[in-house]
Amino acid sequence: MEVNKIMVIGAGQMGAGIAQVFAEAEFDVILYDLEEGIVKKGLNKIASSLHRQVEKGEMTGVRREEVIKNISPSTLLQSAKNADLIIEAVIENMAVKLKIFEELDKTAPEHAILASNTSSLSITEIASATNRPEKVIGMHFMNPVPVMKLVEIIRGLETEDMVYEVIEELTKKLNKVPVEVNDYPGFVSNRILMPMINEAIYTLSEGVAKKEAIDEVMKLGMNHPMGPLTLADFIGLDTCLYIMETLHSGFGDDKYRPCPLLRKYVKAGRLGRKSGRGFYTYT
Ligand code: 3HC
Repeated sequence: MEVNKIMVIGAGQMGAGIAQVFAEAEFDVILYDLEEGIVKKGLNKIASSLHRQVEKGEMTGVRREEVIKNISPSTLLQSAKNADLIIEAVIENMAVKLKIFEELDKTAPEHAILASNTSSLSITEIASATNRPEKVIGMHFMNPVPVMKLVEIIRGLETEDMVYEVIEELTKKLNKVPVEVNDYPGFVSNRILMPMINEAIYTLSEGVAKKEAIDEVMKLGMNHPMGPLTLADFIGLDTCLYIMETLHSGFGDDKYRPCPLLRKYVKAGRLGRKSGRGFYTYT
């Protein structure tokens, strides 16, 4: 199956990154969100991310313009009628995702693959909202998308081999590395990463060490590029909490219980970098 036209649903941090890497690989991309202002913000994010490459001499200004031209903005879900692959990257809320997939299933051509960038939710359940569960798959990009090499590819219960192979090949065309995983809560990445972050938050709340010290131990002692509390702020504390809740309810095991301090921060609106304050303060 040939994939030429990609539609990305959601122009936030992840959606914009995904649109950018496909546009850089010369695909025709439609970037969709509910409101024009949000799509514009996504396009601005892409423009400034590409600008970094121009500044570093890795890309010419002309090439940057060409990449941007590969992306068409849209606020109409009906644009899916022209897409071969649709990648959903909206908030981590099953009800919202089910509604979007139900709509996409009605609009997208029969051959189209429907992918989700969910970080922990069941691909099998998302697929159940459609009449084409064999064409539904997880395509989990890491943040920041233009930099991170991994794409976790998640097979739902009914995902066809052919669909997996198409997505695997596409991932390689993006100059990224596909890794195949099965559909379990948190997949591989967040099943391992989030409990580590959650434990770092318990370590902080129990007063074992200051936040800077916890981050320093993991950066210098384990060679992590960011300490776990800095990384939590980078990912978004609401997202971290949501993933912990998915692990907790999905496995029914208290070893995944979210740290109360994480809940408290989310309730206070301290969501990390995006809100200006999480464990650290950002200007
Ligand atoms: N767009 C384009 N390029 C970017 C970028 C962006 N948004 N952010 C960083 N870069 C580039 C920089 O230009 C720089 O490129 P260069 O090496 O060619 O000069 C390179 O990335 C390194 O950036 P910086 O020098 O600004 O900063 P750092 O060296 O601190 O690296 C980082 C930044 C790449 C974000 C690094 O700190 C890192 O790898 N952090 C960990 C990220 C991580 O763990 N991500 C996974 C999160 S979990 C996830 O996404 C799953 C989800 O489901 C929760």
